[in-house]
Amino acid sequence: MTSTRTGPTPDVPISDVPRLRVHHLGRAKKRGERLTMLTAYDAIVAGVFDDAGIDILLVGDSMGTTVLGMPSTLTVALEDIERATRAVATAVRRAMVVADLPFGTYEDSPTHAFDSATRLMRAGAHAVKFEGGQRVASQVQLIASAGIPVIGHIGFTPQSEHGLGGPRIQGRDAASLDTLTADAVALQEAGASAIVLELMPADAAATLTDMLQIPTIGIGAGPHCDAQVLVWTDMVGLTPRPPRFARAFGQARRDLQAAAGAYAEAVRNGAYPDPEHSY
Ligand code: KIV
Repeated sequence: MTSTRTGPTPDVPISDVPRLRVHHLGRAKKRGERLTMLTAYDAIVAGVFDDAGIDILLVGDSMGTTVLGMPSTLTVALEDIERATRAVATAVRRAMVVADLPFGTYEDSPTHAFDSATRLMRAGAHAVKFEGGQRVASQVQLIASAGIPVIGHIGFTPQSEHGLGGPRIQGRDAASLDTLTADAVALQEAGASAIVLELMPADAAATLTDMLQIPTIGIGAGPHCDAQVLVWTDMVGLTPRPPRFARAFGQARRDLQAAAGAYAEAVRNGAYPDPEHSY
């Protein structure tokens, strides 16, 4: 008899599911299983992180400052994210690929946001993310109701860095926490599947995490979130001046420099190419 089962049984830990899909986010929260998320902007790095079992890869607009040499994320274009999403999606077998809507591609209307989201989904994304709470609830509603999973992003939102007066911790006082709470509720009610909480006290993030049914994904928001995300170059120790909340789990800057130095030395002194590496 043919089995009618189309996916893993609910007993399988999320870290063992063969392909991370949107319904696993809520399931992970219910079971208290923490999810992992890293940024990725190209195929080779995305493949490495997918093989390492990272659950969610974010094609973030942080690519502007991280790999494109831009002074902020404000000049990242939809085409930049589209191309990177295509590369990341091609390399991934298990991870969920989330693509960021860049500045100026969603704020003014739900239909503009929907058009931008469709371009990223056509490029291979499995979900989209964009910044804001109550002010983008109608955008979330339209996109989510069309069957596109949406991740929200509140707290410090880098695309509003000028309006917020720089990368400042949000939710420190009662009024600011009330705003974050209203934003988080608006996103959940509009149909968001998860919410990134950036730069806020651990207590504020814990309050939001307890209150919400959907998972929270913390960055600079303490240990109580349902998931954590880091910019990958911070995580491996490649970023020259990483933010205080980021921990380097490797020494990629040192290792890359050492490898490049050893290569240059070998070329200069004739040790490379040697007979073993020649035809
Ligand atoms: O663009 C990005 O990398 C992000 C993360 C910081 C959450 O939005």
